[in-house]
Amino acid sequence: MDTQGPLLELRGISKSYAGVRVLNHVDFSLSRGEVHCLVGENGAGKSTLIKILSGAIQADEGEIILNGKRCRNTTPHQQIEQGISTIYQDSDLVDTLTVADNIFLGSEIKRFGVIARKEQERISREFVNSLNINIDPSILVSELSTAQKQILQMAKALKRKASVIIMDEPTSSLGEEESAALLQIVKRLSREGIGIIYISHYLEEVFSIADRITVLKDGVVTCVKKASDITSSEVIHAMVGRDASLFYSRERFPIGEVVLEVKNLTCPPYAKPVSFSLRKGEILGFGGLVGSGRSELMNALFGAVKPLAGEVYLHGNKLLISSPQDAIRQGICMINENRKDAGLFLQRSVMENVCIARNEKKLFIDISKDISSTDEMVQKLNLKTSGFQQEVQRLSGGNQQKSILARWLLTSFDVIIFDEPTKGVDIGAREEIYKTILELARDGKGIIIISSDMPELLSMSDTICVLREGSLIHTLSPEQLTEEELLKKYLDIA
Ligand SMILES: Nc1ncnc2c1ncn2[C@@H]1O[C@H](COP(=O)(O)OP(=O)(O)OP(=O)(O)O)[C@@H](O)[C@H]1O
Ligand SMILES: [Mg+2]
Repeated sequence: MDTQGPLLELRGISKSYAGVRVLNHVDFSLSRGEVHCLVGENGAGKSTLIKILSGAIQADEGEIILNGKRCRNTTPHQQIEQGISTIYQDSDLVDTLTVADNIFLGSEIKRFGVIARKEQERISREFVNSLNINIDPSILVSELSTAQKQILQMAKALKRKASVIIMDEPTSSLGEEESAALLQIVKRLSREGIGIIYISHYLEEVFSIADRITVLKDGVVTCVKKASDITSSEVIHAMVGRDASLFYSRERFPIGEVVLEVKNLTCPPYAKPVSFSLRKGEILGFGGLVGSGRSELMNALFGAVKPLAGEVYLHGNKLLISSPQDAIRQGICMINENRKDAGLFLQRSVMENVCIARNEKKLFIDISKDISSTDEMVQKLNLKTSGFQQEVQRLSGGNQQKSILARWLLTSFDVIIFDEPTKGVDIGAREEIYKTILELARDGKGIIIISSDMPELLSMSDTICVLREGSLIHTLSPEQLTEEELLKKYLDIA
C-alpha cells in the first residue's frame, strides 16, 4: 500500500437540495497527522461536506478515497468501520450508562454471556490514563460536562482505531479553559498520526491548531493553504469577500434610568442571592467560568427555572414571573444559547418561526406584513435561506441561530437577555449581531449579555458582572481591562 499518498481525499463532491447547489465540485484532502481546518460563513456547506464524508448523506457527484481505496454507497456504520469517526456536539453517548459502558458499547466484553463490567472499567481506566484524560470510567455519562463528553467521544473513536476524526464546531459550547484542554488533545492525536478535520468559527483557535486551512464559500472552495502561509485577514477575505474585524469597537450611548432591578434572586444549584440593576440603554455583560451559574440566574429571571427566593422589579413594579410566557408578556425576553431549547419549530417555515412571537396575540395574520418583516430580518442578519417557506430544520446551524434572533427583534420588550449571542455565528454575521445589539441599546432597551467570549464581553459591555459559583463577586468597568485580568477575576485570584 502506498503510505505516502493522502490518507483521505474527496474529489469533485457536489450536492444539491431541491435544485439548489450547496456544494459545487469540492476537493479536499487530509494527510496522516494533519489538522485540516474547514472554515466559512454560515450556510457555506461545511456540515454538509462532513455529513457526506461520515456517510450520513450521499453526494450527488464525486468520490471519497480513503487509503487509496474508493468508498462506495457509504453509510455511517461503514464509515466508522473504515476508521472515520465524527464527534457530534449532541453526542451519541448514552447518558444513563457509565463512561466505561459507553466506551465498550457495541463491543462489550462478555464472560458467560454477561457483560464483564469490572474488566471493562479496568481497561477503560488504563485507556483514558494512557491518553492523560481525567475522566472516571465508573461514573455515569450524565454527570460529565459538555467538554468531557466530547473528549470521551474522542476516546471512543480511538478505541475503534479511527484514523480520521471529524469535529464540527466542538468548542462552541465550551469555556476558554475547556476549549484549551480539548485543543491540546487534538494536537496530541495529530502527533500520533491521526488526521483531523476541524470546523470552527473561531479563527484564533483555527490558527492555533491548523496545519492547513480550507475556506468554503457558497459551496465552493475559495482557498486552500498551509496555515503558515496565510493570515487571518486573508482567511476572512476568502470567507466573506470583504474585510471584517475580529475585534469590535463600539459606540457608547447615554444610559438612562433603572429599568430592571433584581433583588436577592436565589436559584438552584448554588442558592446564593444575587442583586443587580440594569438601566435603559445599558449593556450589562455577565462573565465567569462555564458552570458559574450565569445561565441558571438568567433562566430564573426569565421564568424558565423557579427561583428559591428573590424579587424582580421592572420600571419599579414588582413582577410575578412563573413562566417564560409571563416574562415575555411583561417585557423581558431571552435568546437562549441552546438552539434546541430555544423554541424553534423545526418543521415550520422560516417565516412562521420569525413572525410567531409577534403574531401571538393577533387574531388575524397580515401575510404581506409577515413577508416584509421576514425580508427585513433576512437582509439585516444576512440569513441564508432558499426561501421564506424553507423549513427551519433545513437551515445551517448558524442560520437557525439567526432566525431565533430575528423572532425577538420583531417583538416589543424592555429588557432582552442574550445567552451566548454569537455562538456558532460566522465573523461577518457576528458584526451584524453586534450592530443590532447596539441599535437596541440606542433605543433605550436594557440589555444583558452572557458570553464566554472574553473579547466580545470586553468590547460590548458597559459593565461586567462576574459570577463565581453562583455569587456575584465583581462588578467591573471593562475599560482598560485585558483578557488576562478578566480571567483572573473569573478565578477570583486578583
Ligand atoms: N436537508 C436540507 N434540505 C435543504 N437544504 C439544506 C439541507 N441541509 C442543508 N441545507 C442547506 O445547505 C446549505 C449548507 O448548509 P450547512 O449546514 O452545510 O452549512 P454550514 O457551512 O455548516 O453552516 P453553519 O456555519 O451555519 O453551521 C445551507 O444553505 C442549508 O440551508
Ligand atoms: Mg454547520
